[in-house]
Amino acid sequence: MSAVDYLRDAAPGLARLQPYDPGLDAIAVRQRWGVEEVFELSGNESLWGPSPDVAAALAEATSRLPFYPDPSARALKTALAQLHGVSVDQIVVGNGSHELLVQIACTLAGAGQRVVAAEHGFAVFAIAGIQCGAELQQVPALPIDHGQARNADSTAMAAAADGARIVFVANPNNPTGGGWDAATLRGFLDQVPVDTLVVIDEAYAEYVQRTDWCSAVRLLPDYPNLLVTRTFSKAYGLASLRIGYALCSAEIAGLLERTRLTFNLNHYAQLAALAAIEDQDHLRRVVVETLAQRSRWAEQLSALGLRVFSSEGNFLLVDFERPAQPIFEALAAHGVLLRPVTGYGLPSCLRITIADDRALDALISALRAVLR
Ligand SMILES: Cc1ncc(COP(=O)(O)O)c(C=O)c1O
Repeated sequence: MSAVDYLRDAAPGLARLQPYDPGLDAIAVRQRWGVEEVFELSGNESLWGPSPDVAAALAEATSRLPFYPDPSARALKTALAQLHGVSVDQIVVGNGSHELLVQIACTLAGAGQRVVAAEHGFAVFAIAGIQCGAELQQVPALPIDHGQARNADSTAMAAAADGARIVFVANPNNPTGGGWDAATLRGFLDQVPVDTLVVIDEAYAEYVQRTDWCSAVRLLPDYPNLLVTRTFSKAYGLASLRIGYALCSAEIAGLLERTRLTFNLNHYAQLAALAAIEDQDHLRRVVVETLAQRSRWAEQLSALGLRVFSSEGNFLLVDFERPAQPIFEALAAHGVLLRPVTGYGLPSCLRITIADDRALDALISALRAVLR
């Protein structure tokens, strides 16, 4: 009897799809290299964690364990609507923004259509484009000698948007760290035809301090084909609970509600996100501390003679100008876990999540030993 060929009969695009590679975790590093303490600087999470109010909210949440969560996440959406000055029917919640990005592609694009993302852009854009069966077009990024080296080229992206179903842009981008200023973003949106959906992924928006930057959320009234994704996994410090959301027109939100899995945001996640939103002081403190550390980290890494890309997020991309995998492994053996970005077409680079002074000391002394 011949084996069943599941792949042959599977959804279009599956054969081209590779699973998302989240990199090694601390457990794997301890097992493989036998190190006691691991500095996890690989996932762009916030070392400072969530507001302390989250723990209190979660303690109360246990009484609801036997029950399904609110399927429409009403309280959370109301708080988000207030935070962003939009209406509740313009918000869709997701089990992380990762889920939303894939859901958006699979709801609004498909076989025979084209989805656009930038070279070195966030990996999930390509996964989403391929998973929905569309043709994926990767647009070359800006060259290394450009002021926004390796970030998305707005002119080339706008040209590719013509006739495409969806264009994905991360602003700021992971792993390259740069972002488009308000004028670039507006100029881009003005050029994209109204029947092409523009998804601006703002996972790192809370960290951006540049005065010439503007959240695409503010532009929603001007562009009906615009959708913005946000997450609680970064500055809000809640990556483990998987909470993301999309902001868009009520019409697009209505379409996404048709394909959203019922109960996709569990009760703990909803309560934690609500508590986190209500403590904006904590968020501000985390951002101030992260950015102060980021300057320190960039300075010390540059002092080692390394090329450090400027970043708007809670991470830095460093170019070692030689294959970075052996450096990654040698650093892991010293208990410092970074993120290889070969899959992003950056084999000589590693991405480093910003943390505290102890982590910086561990990183710099490990780098000195490894690069000697
Ligand atoms: C640009 C970007 N978008 C989205 C995500 C996914 O976030 P979430 O945890 O909400 O799925 C990440 C995570 O690293 C990211 O870097």
